Amino acid sequence: MLRANAPSDVKPAIAGAVASTGESTRKTYSNGWREGTTIPAEYYLDAKHYNTDERYIAENLWLMADHVNRIPKAGDYFVFEFGRAESVIILRNTSGEIKAYHNVCRHRGSRLCRHREDPRPDDPRLSVLQLGSSGNTPVFRCPYHAWTYDLDGNLISAHNMQKDFDMAKNGLIPCHMRIAEGHIFLNFSREKKPPKFDTEEVEYLRKMGQKYGLADLKIAVRQYYPIKANWKLAIENFLECYHCGSSHRNLVTTHNWDDNLSPDQKARLLREMTTWACEEAKEKAGEAQGMGSGGSSWATEYSGELNPGFLTGSVDGKPVAPLLPRIKKWTHCTDLATTAHSTGYWQAYDDHVAVARFTPRAPEFTDCEIFWLVNPKAVEGKDYEPERVMSLWDITIREDIWIVENNHLGVTSRAYGPGRYAEHEGSPARFIKWYMDEVVKA
Ligand code: FES
Ligand SMILES: [Fe+2]
Repeated sequence: MLRANAPSDVKPAIAGAVASTGESTRKTYSNGWREGTTIPAEYYLDAKHYNTDERYIAENLWLMADHVNRIPKAGDYFVFEFGRAESVIILRNTSGEIKAYHNVCRHRGSRLCRHREDPRPDDPRLSVLQLGSSGNTPVFRCPYHAWTYDLDGNLISAHNMQKDFDMAKNGLIPCHMRIAEGHIFLNFSREKKPPKFDTEEVEYLRKMGQKYGLADLKIAVRQYYPIKANWKLAIENFLECYHCGSSHRNLVTTHNWDDNLSPDQKARLLREMTTWACEEAKEKAGEAQGMGSGGSSWATEYSGELNPGFLTGSVDGKPVAPLLPRIKKWTHCTDLATTAHSTGYWQAYDDHVAVARFTPRAPEFTDCEIFWLVNPKAVEGKDYEPERVMSLWDITIREDIWIVENNHLGVTSRAYGPGRYAEHEGSPARFIKWYMDEVVKA
């Protein structure tokens, strides 16, 4: 959720991107779309455009899947799903390494593990054995003909095969994977060489990772939020805070993101900030905080202050967990980082970090999952309650899902036509321009 007055500070790093959405620089594209406006409904709704989107993302973006601490022990695994067909098993092998393999049997292509949305009825009369979408296992055994793979993807059992069948050539297909600051990223390209996973892609995440010690934090709680809307509507919404004042009372009560403070509140904020440990807020008190962007992934960052009386990103402003190990005192500040057009999003506070991912699944369906990281020494029930840790962003994402699904319904109407982005919607306007230039190539 990028603050309302920040988009004007974002420098587009995409080649040829035009920062302004003003009339003088607006360009009309071959399909009639005008820069600075939302796109025609077909780009949100049609399967043909969604197929293009999915292919582009698979080949060009690194999607954040989860945190390595989700699978701490050998044999721990979970399934990550992308688009309509992709499914990857992410596991920890016996040497402690994280590995990613396509969830596709090399025999006749069955899924080895189940999809989250594909639960079979629990009927003891059925004898098919299939692993669930997460758990712990010494091997992956296909439910169809029982070909079995070890934790390094090697095929270790395939009964009654021909003499010339080469087990060594029938291991699971690896998926491109990188790890940054304890977070697992996947790329679905079938090329041998994946796109660059360079400092631009994760530059801001790395900075945040060092400051908050992200790699060593513990997952306190996680929540899955299915969104019945096109992925671009979900991302556009998360790229702007024009809607924060009208849709996120709790969020703008906590964060100074609405620019709705009275002169008295502003004066108090400025006085208080001079005593805080947030260096950036002290230096730039009262001004828009810097938000950068860079590289083809258009990653962003932001640092800023919380509102007076708020120590952390909680509904009541009180701490929700002990300070993170690398944070020595309360700073009243928050840091934000994103990767890959905000499909990965980190919001860090002194005592916890909220991590969100947005993953396209179908033209009208997007996965959102949020997990909350806390001090690894914190004990549930004693040092933190999961409900309190998650409360602010749980409320915020439920509000976002409401407005995004509602937006999708409106876009579906025959009365919908492209509308003009406001000045504070510079980020979604640039995201959509990038989409038309790079993905649609309009
Ligand atoms: S499809 Fe997996 S063993 Fe046959
Ligand atoms: Fe929002």
